[in-house]
Amino acid sequence: MRVVHSITSLQGMIDRNKREGRTVGFVPTMGFLHDGHLSLVKQAREQNDIVVMSIFVNPAQFGPGEDFEAYPRDKERDTNLAYEVGVDILFMPTPEEMYPQEGGIRILPGPQANVLCGASRPGHFDGVLKVVLKLFNIVDPDRSYFGMKDAQQLAIIETFVRDFNLRTSIVRVPIIRDQDGLAKSSRNVNLSETDRAEAPVIQQALQKGVLLFNEGSSVETIERGVTAYITENSSGIMDYVSLLSYPELAEYDGLSDEAILACAVKFGKTRLIDNIIISIKDGCHVQNDDEQ
Ligand code: PAF
Repeated sequence: MRVVHSITSLQGMIDRNKREGRTVGFVPTMGFLHDGHLSLVKQAREQNDIVVMSIFVNPAQFGPGEDFEAYPRDKERDTNLAYEVGVDILFMPTPEEMYPQEGGIRILPGPQANVLCGASRPGHFDGVLKVVLKLFNIVDPDRSYFGMKDAQQLAIIETFVRDFNLRTSIVRVPIIRDQDGLAKSSRNVNLSETDRAEAPVIQQALQKGVLLFNEGSSVETIERGVTAYITENSSGIMDYVSLLSYPELAEYDGLSDEAILACAVKFGKTRLIDNIIISIKDGCHVQNDDEQ
């Protein structure tokens, strides 16, 4: 595995591989790798000749007062894990390498970014799209792998790729969970022991929401049911819960083929997100999760 810090060196390596006819799979991450990231790499490994992973905690997607400083980092551990899972090139740029100048062009996502996390974190998806576009231009991947835990991010990136004719295919990869149902996240390490014990309530509440959905309950009843389950069974503070069409992320009107039931909950200073994608056609929910 080659570890690269400079954009020019990485581009040189990619160019050589492409000239020799190799396909490139790309796994962008912010590091502190867990099984969710590793499943992205495994899928990329199966479908491409070489796998590039980036690790970069992108300051542009954190707002004032968010957890940029507290975001967990461990370069040595990540390097070992990336090597073990079969990454060929690990790109770990510094903020100066990625953003040599302040300011510059901003990318403004459409209405998909005004709901869910976009409503709670203004500007977050501008920063995500900026770094993703830079990374796509640097890595020039045939396929790029994103986890369904960040279903809103995935939907916005799919729209971005479509609207701007970006030359990479986006591959959706199912959520990976701990045994007790908590979705894997780098932020889980920041939970206190008590909060970690309570956090699986999020997935349980979403499952209850799907039951309400299948009984024909209204959007309001479903959202209230999820909130009540979380607040009655944990000390978690609701940020949002929302049932929307997917991947449009518009008001759910019963006509779309798929819907997303998504929520964000704060345990102490740690904000966790999770979701379930519901297939409307057959009236039962689709697990956007890996089989455990
Ligand atoms: O999902 C993430 O880890 C980040 O948002 C991404 C896509 C690597 C951009 O910084």
